[in-house]
Amino acid sequence: MRTPTLFLALLLAAAPAFADPFAKGDIKTGKTLHDKSCISCHVSMTGGDGSAIYSRLERKVKNPQQLQARIRNCNANVGANWFPEEENHVGAYLNNAYYHFK
Ligand code: HEC
Repeated sequence: MRTPTLFLALLLAAAPAFADPFAKGDIKTGKTLHDKSCISCHVSMTGGDGSAIYSRLERKVKNPQQLQARIRNCNANVGANWFPEEENHVGAYLNNAYYHFK
């Protein structure tokens, strides 16, 4: 039977892409970038350290694609001028700390 083998091979080849959406991101670098550019507004909105915006019940971001899009928009709005790799580091940090998308 060739088909199941092929299917399994495809599945394995595709698996890493789904396992962790920000696998290439560095969490520590992401935290540094995030803490520098991204906290001020969130603090004024939620108080505390601002992280409640990521864990509030009615949070907007529901999947990794939305998280990535949000980081990209905020990056542009704030003028942080991050490269895509840097957005990815911040994604890795936020996902690890708050969102836990798989
Ligand atoms: C100019 C103010 C401001 C700055 C600076 C800012 N944000 Fe935001 N951010 C907001 C606002 C306002 C919301 C809530 C929007 C909403 O509720 O729809 C938000 C929401 C978010 C969310 C979604 C939270 C949820 O609902 O799940 C993410 C993720 C986020 N910001 C990431 C960032 C990142 C990354 C940076 C740094 C590049 C950043 N923000 C900087 C104003 C800001």
